[in-house]
This record gives sequence, structure tokens and C-alpha cells, in this order.
Amino acid sequence: MTLQENITAAAAFLTSRIFSRPTVALVLGSGLGDYADTLENAVKIPYSEIPNFPQPTVEGHAGAFVFGKKQDKDVVVLQGRVHYYEGLSMAEITLPVRVLAAMGVKTLVLTNAAGGVNLNYKPGTLMLISDHINFSGANPLIGKNLEKFGPRFPDVSDLYTASLREKIIDKAAENQIPLEQGVYLMCSGPNYETPAEIRAFRTLGADAVGMSTVPEALVAGHSGMDVVGVSCITNMAAGVLPVKLDHKEVVETAAKVHDLFQKLVDIILETL
Ligand code: HPA
Repeated sequence: MTLQENITAAAAFLTSRIFSRPTVALVLGSGLGDYADTLENAVKIPYSEIPNFPQPTVEGHAGAFVFGKKQDKDVVVLQGRVHYYEGLSMAEITLPVRVLAAMGVKTLVLTNAAGGVNLNYKPGTLMLISDHINFSGANPLIGKNLEKFGPRFPDVSDLYTASLREKIIDKAAENQIPLEQGVYLMCSGPNYETPAEIRAFRTLGADAVGMSTVPEALVAGHSGMDVVGVSCITNMAAGVLPVKLDHKEVVETAAKVHDLFQKLVDIILETL
């Protein structure tokens, strides 16, 4: 099967299994995964039930589409994000986003945990992604272009849709949710960055650094979807503070801002 045939078959399978026709999808980063539990009338379809769908190989990352209603809107949540550092190809990790596009999803909301590069940020800062720098060394659009979705050389100058960002910034302020706006830089990981890399990235204009989001955003943009990205700054990036970076801190900070982050996602859905 070609990639295009795989996508079409998976979209047809999912459409046959659900009654809703979501136009909004959410991909949840570290600490926000339980947002899917807040959906009404949730229907969960594991990737393992979808014919010819590549399976995440990493334990504890059983992928699934969760369809349901939130604020009277049909939405779908992608559970179990797969990262490039896990060893899958860029095409594989972004396949679920292609399937969403084929099903008619128009807006993709991406969230992640990230390191703070901007020295004005603190652990717990929430940042709306205004743009990105792809420092991963890879690109999910490499290979035969999927003409059904978009052009060979897509324009990505408004990837993180400016008109949506304006509304989100206004609504967050109305609701007293502090929200920064900045540039997200993706490294492949899995190691955290070196202090020299972080100094270089600051010079390049990055405000936050992480190991996800860019592949999904590129594929969504190529498919003509609007993209909203939010980073939760869980720690200051390497070399900023005299402390070792530890995944435990990432998880702990994400847990601390969990309720605020959830409220921000609610607000984002309201604006769509
Ligand atoms: N670097 C890369 N990815 C991350 C970080 C970081 O400091 N924190 C959370 N995800």
C-alpha cells in the first residue's frame, strides 16, 4: 500500500466507526494527556484496530483517536503522541495528522512541554507558538508529494494562524490567563540540549525548545489546516540555571500548571 492509500483507508475506516464529524483535533503533550477524559460521549479507537496503521513501538504509548464532544463541538483527541527520537520515521509519526486532514479536520491544536530559552520565562510560563525553527534535521514532507493534500513547496509563513492567535491572546487576557507568545525550536532529542546550543538558539531567535510539534504542524499546514500551538515551559533550558535537567521536573511543572493549561485549551476551543 502507498502512503496515500494507507491514509485514505484509515480515514474511511474511522469515518465508518463514528457518527461525529470533528473539525477540531488536539494533540496533547506531557502532563495534559488526561484532557481526553473531559470529552462527552467519548469513543476511543486504538491505532491497533485500524487496518495497516503503523503501531507505536514504545511501551506506554498505545496510540488512539478519542472522538467526543466539548463545548457542543465535535472534537478528536490524539492520545499517545509519538516522537521522532523513538526511532519512527517523520512520515510515520505524522500519519495520524494526515488521517485527520483526510477526515475533514480543519484546525489542529498542538500542545507540548518545552524548555525556556527566553530569559524572561519561568517554569510554568504558557507560550502560544507564533512560529518555529525546525532544527530537527528532518522533515515529514520529504518524499513523494501527496498532491491530494497540498503542493510540493508549501508556503509556511502563516503556519501558526495569526488570526486565531489574536483571538486567543485577547480571550486569555479576558480570563486572566498569563500567556506569552514566542518561537519554538525543535531538536530531535532525546538528549536535552547543551548550554552552547541553547545560547546559539537564543541568538537565533528561539524562545522555547522541545522535541515535538514541528512535524505535526508542517503536515497540518501542508494539508491546509489551521494550526494552534501552545508550549508549557516546564524548565529553563540547559545552562540557564545551575541545575541538572531532569524529566521529573518536566512532569512536576506540567502537573502544577495542569488546571491553568486545561483552562487555556478550553478557551482556545471557544475561539474556534
Ligand atoms: N529541552 C527539550 N525538550 C524539552 C525540554 C528542554 O529543556 N523541557 C521539556 N521538553
